[in-house]
Amino acid sequence: MRSIHNSVVYQIYPVSFKDSNHDGIGDLQGIISKLDYLETLGVDMIWLTPIFPSPLYDNGYDVADYCKISERFGTMDDFKELVHKAKEKHIGIMLDMVFNHTSTDHTWFQKALNKEKKYMDYYIFTKEKVNWESKFGGNAFEYVDDLGMYYLHLFDKHQADLNWDNPEVRQELYKIVRFWLDIGVDGFRFDVVNLISKPKTFEDDFEGDGRRFYTDGPNIHSYLQELNQESFGQNPNLMTVGEMSSTSIENCINYSHKSGKELSMVFNFHHLKVDYPNNQKWALGKLDFFALKKLFNDWQTQMQEGGGWQALFWCNHDQPRIVSRFGNEHQYHKESAKMLATVIHLQRGTPYIYQGEEIGMTNAHFDTMDKYRDIESLNHYQILKDRGLSHNEVMQIIMERSRDNSRTPVQWDDQDFAGFSDVQPWIDVIDNYKTINVQQSMEDPNSIFAYYQKLIMLRKKHEVIQTGWYSPLLQEHPRVYAFLRELENKAIYVYANFFEEEISIEIDATLHVLLSNYSTSSLTPSYTLRPYEVLVLSKNL
Ligand code: GLC
Ligand code: CA
Repeated sequence: MRSIHNSVVYQIYPVSFKDSNHDGIGDLQGIISKLDYLETLGVDMIWLTPIFPSPLYDNGYDVADYCKISERFGTMDDFKELVHKAKEKHIGIMLDMVFNHTSTDHTWFQKALNKEKKYMDYYIFTKEKVNWESKFGGNAFEYVDDLGMYYLHLFDKHQADLNWDNPEVRQELYKIVRFWLDIGVDGFRFDVVNLISKPKTFEDDFEGDGRRFYTDGPNIHSYLQELNQESFGQNPNLMTVGEMSSTSIENCINYSHKSGKELSMVFNFHHLKVDYPNNQKWALGKLDFFALKKLFNDWQTQMQEGGGWQALFWCNHDQPRIVSRFGNEHQYHKESAKMLATVIHLQRGTPYIYQGEEIGMTNAHFDTMDKYRDIESLNHYQILKDRGLSHNEVMQIIMERSRDNSRTPVQWDDQDFAGFSDVQPWIDVIDNYKTINVQQSMEDPNSIFAYYQKLIMLRKKHEVIQTGWYSPLLQEHPRVYAFLRELENKAIYVYANFFEEEISIEIDATLHVLLSNYSTSSLTPSYTLRPYEVLVLSKNL
């Protein structure tokens, strides 16, 4: 039986996964053709980012129709075939529900623009704007001449925020979830779902960008409880995950509490801001290792005590590649990728693998703006230039931070276009595809891929990984992140060196080596961790 404890989720960004019909755009048949691969890896669920019709201002997170499949990905029959063939392999499909906003092309918004009162109430129109900022840059309110009013868009101006305080809107959205449940999907990811409940009145924010007014907003828990009851909550086997932007542990305990009233689990992003200087994404900064450890330890222990459940991850379609970010993609590519994988997969929660992470795909290294596609990167090029930075300074930042780092085509083999397509893809393939690709990884017993397989197998085999109690170890250590998981008399100890320098630690040499990214024959009480070494020891397994 699939559960949040024993499962591993694989995230597919369809446009970059695999093209089946020679147009340079990944599609549903492409995914179907790779189901054997995903079965070999051992994953239980596939989360597909939005596959619905969209004008693509935000690569599909601007949905124009929630109950259709975008033509560029295929047809409804292709989707049903995918659900069916995945089920035969005991893999569930999870869809991405973007319910904070719709595309401005959605018929609801079009009717609102036509002054239909009913549909104007579906969105958030105001006579006066306040100074809140859009997450993609600029003011979050857009003026509509014809109406003499502004509408709120927390993201791009083509993504209009829905009015969740209107019960009709909520019912429309629940109906959409039920529509996909009837087709046989096994789970949902809810996009920026902790932003859906806005305050009754808006005021300027002189301390920040406005987020403190609408993040984990006033009615958020009651709306999620209602969504649960009116749709997926009827089926206890369904898996749901909420993407929580700038949230708190306290709220996340409620969102994901084991009582099952809201969602199965939550993503939070605090551990991916530990290299943002002064919380600024669009600036260069170094990893603050103490901050990372503290965040891991605080979230793990407090979520556990409160009965919440975490989605564990480093990578997704919005984040730079972790091996380039906190690892070392050159000299210690395999070692650091495996170390980073281990600390995620052995924490308490459900691990997520983002396409290509299992072969150690890297950042894109695109050094000219014409190679970038993402709206957030394109906007920030201009914003940073306007702040007075030189072209070169701006490019350094874009190359580190751009979401396109993770959106390049999956590197399947060393053929043209990395076997993703036989024509030029919508975004360039990274030029290291000849050495980093799936085919090569699958032939190498020592590959990052083989290591991910092992991590997934260990989770299936050992309950202590699924549900064991988490405790921090070596909390004050400046270079090693370590923790313990315990269940009855069984235990695993994880020691991870996040740096290139060797470092020696004290361990219990009577324990057994369960896993490591180096070959380790004998243990000594004073043990030297090699560059990026991770050592997993076990007791009574
Ligand atoms: C989420 C998505 C991101 C998108 C945003 C707006 O953060 O992961 O890709 O741009 O929401 O929908
Ligand atoms: Ca295609």
